[in-house]
Amino acid sequence: MLRSHNCGELKSTDINTTVALSGWVQKIRDKGFIIWVDIRDRYGITQLVFDEARTPKKVFDSARNLSREFVIQIKGQVIERESKNNELLTGAIEILVNELNILNPSEIPPFTIEDKTDGGEELRMKYRYLDIRRNTIRDNLIFRHKVTMEVRNYLNNQGFIDIETPYLIKSTPEGARDFIVPSRMNSGQFYALPQSPQTFKQLLMVGGMDRYFQIVKCFRDEDLRADRQPEFTQIDCEMSFVNQEDVLTQFEGLISHLILKIKNYKIDKFPKMTYDEAIKNYGSDKPDIRFGMKFGNITDKAKGKGFNVFDSEEIIVGFSIKKGASISRKEIDKWVDWIKKPQIGAKGLVWVKYNEDHTLKSSVDKFYTENDLIEWAKITKADSGDLIFILSGETKKTLKQLGELRLAIAEKNNLRNPDIFAPLWVTDFPLLEWNEEAKRYHAMHHPFTSPKKEDLGLLKSFPEKVRANAYDLVINGNEIGGGSIRIHDSKLQKEMFNLIGLSNKEAQEQFGFLLGAFKFGAPPHGGIAFGLDRLVTILGGEETIRDFIAFPKNNSGRDIMIDSPSMIEKSQLNELGLDLNKS
Ligand code: AMO
Repeated sequence: MLRSHNCGELKSTDINTTVALSGWVQKIRDKGFIIWVDIRDRYGITQLVFDEARTPKKVFDSARNLSREFVIQIKGQVIERESKNNELLTGAIEILVNELNILNPSEIPPFTIEDKTDGGEELRMKYRYLDIRRNTIRDNLIFRHKVTMEVRNYLNNQGFIDIETPYLIKSTPEGARDFIVPSRMNSGQFYALPQSPQTFKQLLMVGGMDRYFQIVKCFRDEDLRADRQPEFTQIDCEMSFVNQEDVLTQFEGLISHLILKIKNYKIDKFPKMTYDEAIKNYGSDKPDIRFGMKFGNITDKAKGKGFNVFDSEEIIVGFSIKKGASISRKEIDKWVDWIKKPQIGAKGLVWVKYNEDHTLKSSVDKFYTENDLIEWAKITKADSGDLIFILSGETKKTLKQLGELRLAIAEKNNLRNPDIFAPLWVTDFPLLEWNEEAKRYHAMHHPFTSPKKEDLGLLKSFPEKVRANAYDLVINGNEIGGGSIRIHDSKLQKEMFNLIGLSNKEAQEQFGFLLGAFKFGAPPHGGIAFGLDRLVTILGGEETIRDFIAFPKNNSGRDIMIDSPSMIEKSQLNELGLDLNKS
């Protein structure tokens, strides 16, 4: 028996019992005649005592050879601890050791395995298995497990069936880039790893498997950020005989259940906002609604008063910052510089201070009267004591820039409180989006998304005006999930493929299986997929999904622990028909 208990469970009620524990050496304090060693496992830490007077000499001497991260087994007696540690589960006791077995020594770890470690991120990723020993990562992985189990139980109780779909599938041009896998048995041909199980879950609906779910790996070859990994996990769901409202209600249930169960945070009803409203009011299709700073459009009030910059622009729009009037000119200038940096790209920033004494002062006083400024204050919902920031320019770009400024100010003013959960459904996304580079339309969600019935008439004349039955779930400004009601009619699906630039022949080659399936009685269906990594991260009050993934990739898509991607043997290339030197 390597252990009778784990390192997190012994309490004062266990005093006088003889126990065996196994684990890693966390810390050693050697006082000469007495040595304290903290032993750690997944469950906690227990203090061991080696006392020259009470521990057998051989054991005591052997304790002198211990070092951090040695794997040991001990036997001993639970005794009361003199100075209790209330922060430890086992802080009331310690173990007087009378037997010590070194199960495996350890080299000195490359960074300290403590909450506050001296290891940088790259080093910790290289030795991820050591990082996982730290409380933070261990707790994050356990937290992820809890969320996942909760999702499985909830969906199972709601009649959803977990069905696996293949990982070796077919490359399609829509969406992000595919990861490609060469086929040995079919030389010169390739599989692709799925960006999502989208078409398969739709085919399951055609197969009559109403209410499917899968917690599934997806693969996308795209540039990485804090909230993106090349392989990530979705909670993927699909239902038959549903409309948009049915899907939203069903999954609002899941998400509010998770937030309640995991965070003990109750949310009654998720608000809804159309895509157009989100862009107009917050400059983003994933607005963070934990705080206000809603935009006010002052174009009509600010144009035509002789200020050249505004007069020549398409839109003039701003928002107010509560109690912002007290900030210094120097600080305002910092925001002016911020908005001009290349990543944001605005030309300048106009400000209005609505002082406590009800006077108004602005960076454009030469052109506008106090009454003008009061009009702007009304539109941007500013009161005395507040500050208004205003941008002007081409509509889409300006709204986006103002949206970025809004978030940066909220961040600076600590308004992005991770203890608050503010979910939001964003609905009515455009069906298509024009891609200037490719000179063609792209599906904004994916090409299987159905257009709104009332907009079908616009499909040929004004495709960009057609809205989709598509929705996103946004929590605290993060896109957590997205879905849609699907096309289930092969004629409309073909029309959609044509709209995104696929000829009938190309559509048949790439998606013939789906078009074929739709001819055999496809039910109306729809669904959604949530990014599990993002959901868990946000529930955990953090921002970087890597911290909640056991073995993540770095920002260049590398696993630096196993050193992947890597070259392969020439013979392997040959076998796959991929020898690049062969003509
Ligand atoms: P979508 O592409 O919106 O929809 O993806 C669904 C959710 O997956 C998460 N996500 C990611 N998470 C981490 N790293 C990534 N690279 C990454 N890419 C996406 C996001 C996103 O909201 N098949 C459709 C769903 C459907 O229509 O039902 C789909 O994949 O949280």
